[in-house]
Amino acid sequence: MKKCFLLQICWIIVGITCGQTPKVSITLHPGQAQTTISKHIYGQFAEHLGSCIYGGLWVGENSPIPNTHGYRNDVVAALKELQIPNLRWPGGCFADEYHWMDGIGSPEKRPKMVNNNWGGTVEDNSFGTHEFLNLCELLGCEPYLSGNVGSGTVEEMSKWVEYITSEGDSPMANLRRRNGRQNAWKVKYFGVGNESWGCGGNMTPEFYADQYRRYSTYCRDYNGTRLFKIASGASDYDYNWTEVLMKNVGHKMQGLSLHYYTVKGWEGSKGSATQFSPEEYYWTLGKSLEIEEVIQKHIAIMDKYDKDKRIGLMVDEWGTWWDVEPGTNPGFLYQQNTLRDAMVAALSLNIFHKYADRIQMTNIAQIVNVLQSMILTSNDKMVLTPTYFVFKMYKVHQDALLIPLEITSETKKIREREIPVVSASASRKDGKIHISLVNMDLESEQDVMIKLSGAKTGNVTGQILTAKTVNDHNTFENQGVIKVADFKYVKLNKGELSVKLPAKSIVVLEVL
Ligand code: AHR
Repeated sequence: MKKCFLLQICWIIVGITCGQTPKVSITLHPGQAQTTISKHIYGQFAEHLGSCIYGGLWVGENSPIPNTHGYRNDVVAALKELQIPNLRWPGGCFADEYHWMDGIGSPEKRPKMVNNNWGGTVEDNSFGTHEFLNLCELLGCEPYLSGNVGSGTVEEMSKWVEYITSEGDSPMANLRRRNGRQNAWKVKYFGVGNESWGCGGNMTPEFYADQYRRYSTYCRDYNGTRLFKIASGASDYDYNWTEVLMKNVGHKMQGLSLHYYTVKGWEGSKGSATQFSPEEYYWTLGKSLEIEEVIQKHIAIMDKYDKDKRIGLMVDEWGTWWDVEPGTNPGFLYQQNTLRDAMVAALSLNIFHKYADRIQMTNIAQIVNVLQSMILTSNDKMVLTPTYFVFKMYKVHQDALLIPLEITSETKKIREREIPVVSASASRKDGKIHISLVNMDLESEQDVMIKLSGAKTGNVTGQILTAKTVNDHNTFENQGVIKVADFKYVKLNKGELSVKLPAKSIVVLEVL
């Protein structure tokens, strides 16, 4: 992002003294578009945690809640609207205590376990491999499985891959057939462990790199398909983890993960999801924008060992993490979702697009009822969160060509961070250009000029997500507090767009 500081300072002084609306200038370079924004950047994550699976996605066939083969009809219909490209499962921390064989066969005979990571609840294994992979087929998305390295064996992981993907006359494929599934499922993405530096085994990077090499050796490719193996990657600023993995594992992995949460790390609490001050709002946006620097540093290390960018950076956990809603189980990570969360989603997606030549997948945590979710449920009720609407508006960027851009915007100093007031991203697909804009300023609208630099244009339309206050959120009682609306304040004139971007808003423009 280029910042014309001198111009900005003059402009801010002039703007403030004359009471004018600030100006933002964006120049698109459609002629330089060459990188595809993988649809997998829009990936989701479902863990056996709180009511993400049980109650959120799955209620079982005998539930009075309307369902198809146990999957909630309302939730499935809402998720289909998002065109989810992939779904990561079964964790998270849960993955490294999960023994897949407990979750197959007749549900009444499946052994129970204690979910030690998340609230100590009893997991009855009624949602297992078949239930997950069939859900992916129902949603039309690709499964992304996380294998157990922390407490599982090499044999166990190897057999899971065989059970799911082998078409042959092999013991595991035959067991699958006896359990009612004739043909193998299509599974490409396979994670070898999760957070192996923490809940996934508290390993050193050197030890994990060796474990990765060993476990992944026995995750075989069946029937001509190739597994895309993803190594458990770094937490946030742990650049040494990436360095060691790149050096010691290298091209034996196809992807390396990274986890980055927008989470407050002081004052003993993470803060309320809905009750926060303007200062906390801007701090949150600053923290979420910091992921760009973190990504740049991990990518720089990856570039040293993999100049051709064959290994993908997979940000397979990201999003906001607040205190749980009052009165809910602290181990269930159930949180509300305001316009602030929507801003974090939009800003993060704009950043992920920019590094699409290295970032091949991301997974927001998590899909339903956990952390920054798309959907909240309570018994038979469901509500769509502001984050859901960002994913809906932004889906036009999936598998589109990234259009490089330059942006000049006013900045704000929040504690130690300087944050720009406007963020933008643009892409082209099927003859249409889409531009996503975020105005982070709580008070001021922004006048934005966008140069389309020779792109053929005829018409522009837009959609907006905003609210009266940034703390606004949808509830089961009041579902329509935040929703997408048509956006009118855009004009196309001689290859330039002029946009009046309201305070605290997210806009996606479509230029035909
Ligand atoms: O998403 C919640 C938890 O956060 C995951 O289980 C774990 O991988 C991470 O620490």
